[in-house]
Amino acid sequence: MEPMAHDFFTPQPIMGTRAYYLRNILHDWGDEKCLIILLNKAAAMKPWYSKVLVNEFAIFRPRPLCLLGAIERAEKQWRELLTTAGLQIERIWTAEPESQSIIEARLAGPGVDDGEST
Ligand SMILES: C[S@@+](CC[C@H](N)C(=O)[O-])C[C@H]1O[C@@H](n2cnc3c(N)ncnc32)[C@H](O)[C@@H]1O
Repeated sequence: MEPMAHDFFTPQPIMGTRAYYLRNILHDWGDEKCLIILLNKAAAMKPWYSKVLVNEFAIFRPRPLCLLGAIERAEKQWRELLTTAGLQIERIWTAEPESQSIIEARLAGPGVDDGEST
């Protein structure tokens, strides 16, 4: 990996890479801002190849935790947010209860499996 500065509210400069990893980023923002961040990732993603990996809590409480503009989202809220951004959750990886999850998502829709995804 090569670290580089990037404003995530601007278009993603690295196109078509295997994974875009967002750790503890989206919980800082409301849905409108998260949508901008995710749409910038989606625009750079290669169908059937690129993934967004969202490393956050996917809480099980019926009501979300909200503090000072930040929010810990429930699985249903993650699904709604990612779907709105044109992404489809493939799997939510959680090592143990109460721990953070990795939400693995790809571009939604039938797309084209060009055979380069493995
Ligand atoms: C809760 S911290 C998470 C940092 C790191 N990802 C981690 O998990 O330790 C949120 C980070 O988002 C960064 N940030 C805030 N606005 C940003 C922007 N527009 N573009 C890129 N990074 C931003 C902050 O500087 C901060 O480092």
